[in-house]
Amino acid sequence: MRGTDGMISIAADDRVFVLTGAGVSAESGLPTFRASDGLWEGHRIEDVCTPEAWEQNPARVWEFYSARRAAAQLAEPNPAHFALAELEARLGDRFFLCTQNVDDLHERAGSVRLVHMHGELAKSRCERDCGCAPVEDRRVYRSLAEVGRCACGARLRPHIVFFGEVPLEMDRIQRELGRATLMLVVGTSGSVYPAANFVHWARVAGARTVYVGPEAPLNASAFTHVVEGRAGETLPGLFIP
Ligand SMILES: NC(=O)c1ccc[n+]([C@@H]2O[C@H](COP(=O)([O-])OP(=O)(O)OC[C@H]3O[C@@H](n4cnc5c(N)ncnc54)[C@H](O)[C@@H]3O)[C@@H](O)[C@H]2O)c1
Ligand SMILES: [Zn+2]
Repeated sequence: MRGTDGMISIAADDRVFVLTGAGVSAESGLPTFRASDGLWEGHRIEDVCTPEAWEQNPARVWEFYSARRAAAQLAEPNPAHFALAELEARLGDRFFLCTQNVDDLHERAGSVRLVHMHGELAKSRCERDCGCAPVEDRRVYRSLAEVGRCACGARLRPHIVFFGEVPLEMDRIQRELGRATLMLVVGTSGSVYPAANFVHWARVAGARTVYVGPEAPLNASAFTHVVEGRAGETLPGLFIP
């Protein structure tokens, strides 16, 4: 699959499924969390990103995600985001992007056929899940009193999949995984499930599987190729369409 020049060839009948993680945004200045100390920006996940944290201390959860919003708004897409948007422009409907990231750098680079399986920083939704759709919300809240309410009266929460909650769009993701012939995984440690299992599902469906990142992920053995390197330096020019 990789030519002598190190590029990956994509045939006219290939369908490409891309899974990205925090590593694809690292070169945009947004820190990953597992790579270093298991903390996310100095916070324990269970204090800021679980249903229990939301129940016990919504002010702290909103403080954390407000800070993430502020950082994401200052960040710019990097060459990895642009390379994936260019690949989509070439492949059209034969391309699908599933990101674990909650920032919007993929869409700001031009990606269209994408799902945010762990939610989106730039949206909020009803904490009661009353049936209202998530609303666009980029506000950086200074206190819980500033946070708005849903039409049903319940408080708005970040449109983020907390640890222990079910990821979004799983039906569509499974359908796309089942028909992909090439899976590209970029910048994810392979420690968050079910995303870490996607490579196995793609293999079962017969796809070639490629990982790109500076170090091998925990599920490295499931990949047919591991390309070691930073996403922004590796992805541009990696593919022969
Ligand atoms: N930008 C964001 O939206 C963001 C940032 C941090 C965490 N998160 C959330 O936390 C969870 C983290 O799981 P995860 O597996 O995505 O991240 P992770 O922090 O567990 O792992 C990051 C991975 O990125 C790799 N990496 C570091 N620099 C890279 C680079 N320049 N190019 C390519 N790869 C690089 C590391 O080797 C590591 O394997 C996700 O669910 C995600 O929603 C999101
Ligand atoms: Zn509601």
